[in-house]
Amino acid sequence: KPRVLSGIQPTGELHLGNYLGAIRNWVEIQQDYDSFLFMADLHAITVPHDPTKLADNTYKVAAMYLACGISLEHATVFVQSHIPAHTELAWLFSCITPLNWLDDMVQFKEKAIKQGENVGTGLLTYPVLQAADILLYQPDKVPVGEDQKQHLELTRDIAARLNYQFGKEEQPILKLPEPMIPKQGARVMSLTDGTRKMSKSDPSDMSRINLLDPPDLIERKIKRCKTDSVRGLTFDDPDRPECNNLLTLYMILTNQPKETVAAEAAEMGWGQFKPLFTDALISVLKPIQKRYDEIMADEHYLKTVLHDGREKAETIANQTLVKVKQALGYSMPV
Ligand code: TYM
Repeated sequence: KPRVLSGIQPTGELHLGNYLGAIRNWVEIQQDYDSFLFMADLHAITVPHDPTKLADNTYKVAAMYLACGISLEHATVFVQSHIPAHTELAWLFSCITPLNWLDDMVQFKEKAIKQGENVGTGLLTYPVLQAADILLYQPDKVPVGEDQKQHLELTRDIAARLNYQFGKEEQPILKLPEPMIPKQGARVMSLTDGTRKMSKSDPSDMSRINLLDPPDLIERKIKRCKTDSVRGLTFDDPDRPECNNLLTLYMILTNQPKETVAAEAAEMGWGQFKPLFTDALISVLKPIQKRYDEIMADEHYLKTVLHDGREKAETIANQTLVKVKQALGYSMPV
């Protein structure tokens, strides 16, 4: 089977963007792939973090993967920091990555501005660690949301450079993975500003639907979310980014073709649409929340999952690490 790999940072609650941009697609394709899914807890400390919450958040994200339908029959679920090969390969990569390749990473710029002069070196080299995460497992595809595209291009560039500088043309050291970005839901926008993406780091919780939000909170968030005063709801109007976002989400959540939703919404006002949308959200999230509670109630089970995941992932990661170290000319420990 071909292999996929992806991960999410355990920095706060997962939201609808994480689900539609990433996890839902992992579930959809899992039958056809050997999946490696992890919690990027090393990346989680590139911005200020709370040490009393890191471990808990990591478990919660793992539980959420399973609650959303990831099956251990197809997937290996593990914690990034449990496998030292990630950090080690990141170091090796950082030595072959030209500094100017990191200069115009959009996510670095956005996050660095917020932190001012306290910005850590790790935020700059973040995508180098991400390249290590990916290339250690030699996956065919990396299913992510739109915002990760640039990081995946860099990953391919690093792999190509290593192959070129230290490999043989007929036998590349690393496989160049393809991004796998969903046709729908790859960029879910904020509820309070349709031109910005929904994000864990937005200070306002009203800007996002978290996967664990209870029904009454979802209802409140949708009631208050930003709309406009135009009657009749339409897709793709550049002057109505909120309208396009909400209709698109409704379409995805209810599994309807775009034409059907467009026809249904053409005569609708917000007062009519919002309750329908709220119901759609609640009925998708309710079963996920129920399973999440069940999984979280059994701490032992989750630990076993992550233990087994580490064992399986580490074997593969170490094979790639050895291959790269040999190509770079290192002596092997005896
Ligand atoms: P993170 O934790 O920011 O996001 C996790 C996944 O959710 C997607 N996503 C979205 N999709 C649609 N609309 C949105 N508003 C939205 N917000 C987030 C992201 O595209 C991502 O797929 N750098 C990664 C974590 C990472 C990783 C990796 C991913 C570390 N190593 C190796 C893949 C492979 C990140 O910050 O994701």
